[in-house]
Amino acid sequence: MAELEGRIAIITGASAGIGEATARTLSASGARVVLNARRKEKLDELVKEFGGPTKAVSVPGDAADRELIERMFAEAGSRFGAAPDLVVVNAGRGLGGSVVTSDDSKWEEMVRLNLVGAARLIRAAAVRMTEGFDPKSWQNTSRDIVVLGSTVGRHISPFSSMYGASKFGVNSLAEAARRELGPKGVRVTLVEPGIVVSEFQAGAGYDEAWFAQMAEKYGPLLQPADIAETIRYIVSQPARIHINDVVIRATRQEYP
Ligand SMILES: NC(=O)c1ccc[n+]([C@@H]2O[C@H](COP(=O)([O-])OP(=O)(O)OC[C@H]3O[C@@H](n4cnc5c(N)ncnc54)[C@H](OP(=O)(O)O)[C@@H]3O)[C@@H](O)[C@H]2O)c1
Repeated sequence: MAELEGRIAIITGASAGIGEATARTLSASGARVVLNARRKEKLDELVKEFGGPTKAVSVPGDAADRELIERMFAEAGSRFGAAPDLVVVNAGRGLGGSVVTSDDSKWEEMVRLNLVGAARLIRAAAVRMTEGFDPKSWQNTSRDIVVLGSTVGRHISPFSSMYGASKFGVNSLAEAARRELGPKGVRVTLVEPGIVVSEFQAGAGYDEAWFAQMAEKYGPLLQPADIAETIRYIVSQPARIHINDVVIRATRQEYP
């Protein structure tokens, strides 16, 4: 039997990068998946790749939107006949520059997606996963909320101050949720990657020459599949074991 057979996962930001790689890895490990991002065509291609409507469903839209979040849980129920027991809170965007130099027209959108959207999804998952908690039988079913933080949500970086501030918020949110939900058998895990090569760099507006220098200095850099494999390992542990936090960097990345 595949390792994650029987599990139902929601993955936001699944059309690219870490979310796409995580969807691929969880699906290959036997989980049925609900895929969210704004690009519907990309999600529909993945649904086909994963074996069609009995294995995967796409719920396109804005991951920070309340109604969209409700729809992801509803789709999981109607397609797969059960509630999700694994939620990957991944959709997010970067923003290069400091509090002085970053594009302040992007601040609200970034904080809304990275922090408010993450909080809404954690809450929606938490309410469902703790419903009917039974102190005698909880170990029979693993329940996971995996949250994507960042090394700049743990170590202050003057180079991406506003993005880092949003991820410090995510870090705090995830740990608070772990303390609240762990006693009810839900594992809230914070995964904090260093630099991962994805669409993230273009979305954050990083200067290409600067990023090439970073790649030269710290490379080989992490790939999305490296993070996906870490997530698979975390959620495959027996329900009684919780790897709380993982910081994962390219070996030569000393900071942040
Ligand atoms: N790459 C890194 O160096 C790095 C390091 C540390 C942490 N992280 C974190 O890891 C997560 C994933 O990053 P990544 O590297 O995979 O970035 P990415 O390649 O840019 O992918 C971001 C994903 O989020 C989706 N997305 C963006 N805005 C959305 C919205 N409003 N609603 C729903 N989906 C949305 C994008 O798809 P659509 O455009 O189709 O919506 C895409 O699928 C983020 O939380 C990021 O902060 C990344």
